[in-house]
Amino acid sequence: MHIDHLNIAVDGGAATGKSTVSKIFAERLELTYVNSGLVYRFYTYYAIKHSLLNNLEKLVSEVEHLSISYENIVKTFEHEINHSSEKDKLIMEINNNVSPVASSAKVRTSVNKTLRHFMSTHKGIVMEGRDIGTVVMPDADFKFFLIVSDEEAARRRHKELIKINPHTKVTYEEILHNVKERNKMDSTRQVDPLKAAENANIISTDNKTVEQIVNEMIHIVRVNEI
Ligand code: C5P
Repeated sequence: MHIDHLNIAVDGGAATGKSTVSKIFAERLELTYVNSGLVYRFYTYYAIKHSLLNNLEKLVSEVEHLSISYENIVKTFEHEINHSSEKDKLIMEINNNVSPVASSAKVRTSVNKTLRHFMSTHKGIVMEGRDIGTVVMPDADFKFFLIVSDEEAARRRHKELIKINPHTKVTYEEILHNVKERNKMDSTRQVDPLKAAENANIISTDNKTVEQIVNEMIHIVRVNEI
């Protein structure tokens, strides 16, 4: 198969570096990057904004009524976050609520519809998430599963927040707690839990630069490409 038709799944826990790595990896292979976590974040943002965290059925029906594509979810979500007066606080509020929202089967079915629609209209995708290799793209040509220690993950996320707001009140400990809670909830939920697909390449990202991780993944694709 030609490289520009490859579908590649990148899964892993919170702050494993998935987004940064997947974006560069997709760019280098000239594939389209898709962030499934962002769609769950959009649903969570919508639920917070419209007080629907306790009514996920209504949340799904309202979001589906918007009939909004993956591309427009990305645009809308980024616009809303960037125009929020307290961006770091909103990001943490979403972080603290996204796992319970994503554990709903109704939400997952709805998000997957959006992702599958995007896949049906685009060839050659790098999609990152938690269940991409196991559920969303079980036939992916390559599957990667990124791992990192909770402490390194929290350090990375804290650095990112400080970049957004140098005076942020969000502490490293708060982020560490969130990373641990999210990974626990994501990997123990009943529906489509976070787990490595049987044929996934496991990549440890501790003590490695983004460049090293991307090169490792590209090497695997080049060596095994048929
Ligand atoms: O990847 P990111 O950290 O932005 O994902 C946010 C949350 O969305 C995760 O903690 C998880 O609860 C949920 N998620 C999921 N399945 C995916 C992608 C994200 O359950 N495929």
